Amino acid sequence: MAKAKTVWYCTSCGNEYPKWMGQCPACGEWNTMVEEPKAAPSGKAAAPSRTRGYVSTEKDARPQPLSEISMSEESRFSIGIEEVDRILGGGMVRGSMILIGGEPGIGKSTLALQIPMNCPDIKTLYVSGEESLRQLKLRAQRLGSDECDCLVLSETLLENIIARAQEVNPDLLIIDSIQTIFSETIESSAGSVSQVRECAAALLRYAKESNTSVILIGHITKDGAIAGPKILEHIVDVVLQFEGDTRGAYRILRSIKNRFGSTAELSVFEMTGKGLREVSNPSEMLIPMHQENLSGIAVAAMMDGTRPLLIEIQSLVSTAAYGVPQRSATGFDVRKMNMLLAVLEKRAGFRLGSKDVFLNIAGGLRISDPACDLAVIAAILSSNFDISVSADSCFSAEVGLSGEIRPVSQVERRIAEAAKLGFKKIYISSFNKKDSFARNDNIEVIAVSDVAELCRKLFKA
Ligand code: TYD
Ligand code: MG
Repeated sequence: MAKAKTVWYCTSCGNEYPKWMGQCPACGEWNTMVEEPKAAPSGKAAAPSRTRGYVSTEKDARPQPLSEISMSEESRFSIGIEEVDRILGGGMVRGSMILIGGEPGIGKSTLALQIPMNCPDIKTLYVSGEESLRQLKLRAQRLGSDECDCLVLSETLLENIIARAQEVNPDLLIIDSIQTIFSETIESSAGSVSQVRECAAALLRYAKESNTSVILIGHITKDGAIAGPKILEHIVDVVLQFEGDTRGAYRILRSIKNRFGSTAELSVFEMTGKGLREVSNPSEMLIPMHQENLSGIAVAAMMDGTRPLLIEIQSLVSTAAYGVPQRSATGFDVRKMNMLLAVLEKRAGFRLGSKDVFLNIAGGLRISDPACDLAVIAAILSSNFDISVSADSCFSAEVGLSGEIRPVSQVERRIAEAAKLGFKKIYISSFNKKDSFARNDNIEVIAVSDVAELCRKLFKA
């Protein structure tokens, strides 16, 4: 018998090659090749194997002026969960495809099932390739309303799913999960690069042709990438990522890509015994109220997209027990922390070279707003001196390589949010123009120009 033909796929970009290579010539990633049976082109039924997105195949498609394109088709609908609507940029666009990624057990299926429950007006078809209908019913009961009219289907064959969807013609099609779906036209097993790619492409074609919105649920690999090829992220319109500690109660939904809105948005959910609950004021959850003053804690006033967010930063500085001091950060870039430590050492004369430094961001959040720099430095110094930062102070500024405290954008909104949450002092850069924000009587704005000045004002040192 002739040997079955195989090809090598890059798991990062989805390109195919006749032989293994250490580095993918297309995307430059190393060690991403996997061997899979070649997708057999069986006449017309075979899906195009290099679909990179939705391309109209209408013969009479003509270029049109943007101004004359009618918007009626691009209408949005609310999916009943306010925070998700906000991330999507004001509801879901008809005919769009959304990918929700996250680790196992984070709550992807729960969120997906809560959509039709919160919004009975939308005709939804929920296809589960992972759970039986009984399991879905049990989950619905757990969520508190199993009287919902949402249609459910337990199926993994792509062709059947599309046929059922065409019969039912739903407004919203949910696929849980894309890695369990397979197409007959491709030989490799479900979850392989070629299956994921072709199934997603076929569902995209269905979405655009029938103007149905599709939500794909996707698994995540150990290093945080959505399993299957990166191409999945290219062809969908929106990528939402569920993050957080599966043992903790809080989950963060973040938009990574959004063709219809901003990618800087984030929302927080709490996993309760009755499903996910929206946390509409995340700052309250991120700053625990302390009974006593502890050292090593500082609060940063950061921006998350369009929303100001106050977040607690914890640090622990201790004498290194072993020769090489440990530096570790959770939720914050370690290289950035090392840079801030070098600034403290070189520009302000603190001897931290022989100390272990640990940094932790409250609530399992990952932060990248440079405005958190000042709070990070304040937390580290506070732990180093073992003097607490007063619990009614917060910080919002970037720290430069020469130890200067640099201004940040939208400082007025940050100040307002801090005042709203009851903070009495906020430390910002002295380069933030005083007249660029209105005076706020409830909070004292303290301007600092360099690290040494921060130290004097904060610790009277
Ligand atoms: P699930 O949505 O199955 O996760 P995923 O689809 O991302 O793998 O959520 C699983 C976790 O959520 C599970 O550990 C149980 C928990 N959970 C609750 O705490 N409360 C609930 O009401 C539900 C439905 C699940
Ligand atoms: Mg699931």
